Amino acid sequence: MKYKPSREEAWELLKRHNQNDALIKHALAVEAVMAHFAELLGEDVEKWRVIGLIHDLDYEKYPEKHCHKTREMLEEEGWPEEYIRAIQSHGYGICTDVEPVEKMEQVLYAIDELTGLINATVLMRPGKSILDLTSKSVKKKWKQKGFAAGVNREIIEDGIQRLGMEKDQLIEETIKGMQLVAEEIGLKGEH
Ligand SMILES: [Fe+2]
Ligand SMILES: [Fe+2]
Repeated sequence: MKYKPSREEAWELLKRHNQNDALIKHALAVEAVMAHFAELLGEDVEKWRVIGLIHDLDYEKYPEKHCHKTREMLEEEGWPEEYIRAIQSHGYGICTDVEPVEKMEQVLYAIDELTGLINATVLMRPGKSILDLTSKSVKKKWKQKGFAAGVNREIIEDGIQRLGMEKDQLIEETIKGMQLVAEEIGLKGEH
């Protein structure tokens, strides 16, 4: 049988190469959202989860070689090409020319930046909780160009086009996925 990396292995690998708390929380957020979408679409939850968790593996140590160093690292670990390709495709148009064509790739590509926008939106709220966040608040912040300016809205739009999903639905489901790990990603509020 083909080697299938486990969540445990992905976590161990992530922790071996990343210390930055914000990056680890981002990885956990993307993991949860990928798992949530896999469930929604009837796909392989474990596979999508692992890809979400590991997608920025090289970013802390090799930001200038983002997505390329991850390929080297994962090849060394014997990871399947399918996983590596999916991870590389999240940098399409920015640091790679690997186009997101598989569903799994398109979801990752669309939600990666979106989790950043949602995170920033929650941190601006008085209660700092994602548990009662609506997509309406996120859309409002989406339109404010100066807000979380590092979040590339065009990529999310492109991802939405590729997926053929409504923008509202993508935002709502991404929020739901992040809510599942609200505590772990520090967005449970100040209660
Ligand atoms: Fe990335
Ligand atoms: Fe990312």
